[in-house]
Amino acid sequence: MTYLNTAAEGIPPRAVIEALGQYAIDKQLGMDGRTLHEAQRHALRRAAGQALGMSVEEIGICSCSSEAFNLAAAALRLGVGDEVIINDLDFPAGITPWLPPNSIATTKLWRSRAGALRTEDLTPLLSRRTRVVSLSLISYYNGYRVSLADVATTVRNASSALVVVDVTQALGRMSLNLTDADLVISSTHKWILGMHGGCLVGAPNARRQLWTVPHGGWFNLENAFATDRFDRAVAKPGAASFSVGMPNYPAVYANRAALDYIKSIDIAAIEAHANPLLRACLDGLKALDVELLTPDEEGSTAGILAFRHSRAEHIFRSLHEQRIHVMHQAGRLRVALHGYNTFADVERFLSALHGALRRA
Ligand SMILES: Cc1ncc(COP(=O)(O)O)c(C=O)c1O
Repeated sequence: MTYLNTAAEGIPPRAVIEALGQYAIDKQLGMDGRTLHEAQRHALRRAAGQALGMSVEEIGICSCSSEAFNLAAAALRLGVGDEVIINDLDFPAGITPWLPPNSIATTKLWRSRAGALRTEDLTPLLSRRTRVVSLSLISYYNGYRVSLADVATTVRNASSALVVVDVTQALGRMSLNLTDADLVISSTHKWILGMHGGCLVGAPNARRQLWTVPHGGWFNLENAFATDRFDRAVAKPGAASFSVGMPNYPAVYANRAALDYIKSIDIAAIEAHANPLLRACLDGLKALDVELLTPDEEGSTAGILAFRHSRAEHIFRSLHEQRIHVMHQAGRLRVALHGYNTFADVERFLSALHGALRRA
């Protein structure tokens, strides 16, 4: 097949499948296997720390980005008058945890213009009351890439808000500088080519008290088996508090192998290979009769392009019948280009799209 849908699901390399097999072998040791599971968890946190530019202690693991955002929102204990800024290019996992029916905080929507989030539109939304600005580094919707440094500077000039960054559509595809992020969240089943159920959370040590999830459980607690456990639950501070119970060890094994694999290929090599493919695909789309949703600006893309067409459903079916896999969702078609794609994939897609448009 011509696989252009890594932004939905990455295709795992053999090393990841073998890691799942290793989990199964270790699990057969019963309780003795847990030492091996824990060694894998430590190795995953170390690998994730390297990928995100953080230390082992700053990396937590939970089940999915949605869970991580909900736990982060709980940790902040937002109050009346507190404000959270979300944006209209973001995935629901990064938006809706700030909008529960019982929330007493207010959310403000940072609206994109022509597919781009402009910091001049963020400035009027910021105030002394802004506690969080939540955003994705790469938009799942149209692939728009924000400048984290510009967003952070804008935020810090007008407020003491925390910048929470979802890197799900970036990790494994582009080099990252996350020094401006106050919390980093990433799902693992897309560009790192890992498995579901093993979300990575990067909570900088400087903020560890703020990011201490106040929930019950045991894996997240200092005193789960201590004599005072019937009186109080004392959470481990920071990243460790995001794993409330037993981790999803199969995903831990797989994602450790996935990050090692990406490292062995090298992010710089992935970018050098896949960025020209994206450029070729973008130029090809511009020459066709589709409504491009991805802004074509210097530094504003990574691995994703999106476009609209009134016959999108028909186009999607036609491509799929030819075994060309793209995403059709949220009113648009989306193409994703990773290190395993080739110029032949791009040419095949553009020529099939051209044919489908002629018949549409
Ligand atoms: C930016 C972004 N965040 C998160 C997710 C997934 O969230 P979860 O891990 O909760 O399924 C996706 C896509 O599925 C996404 O595009």
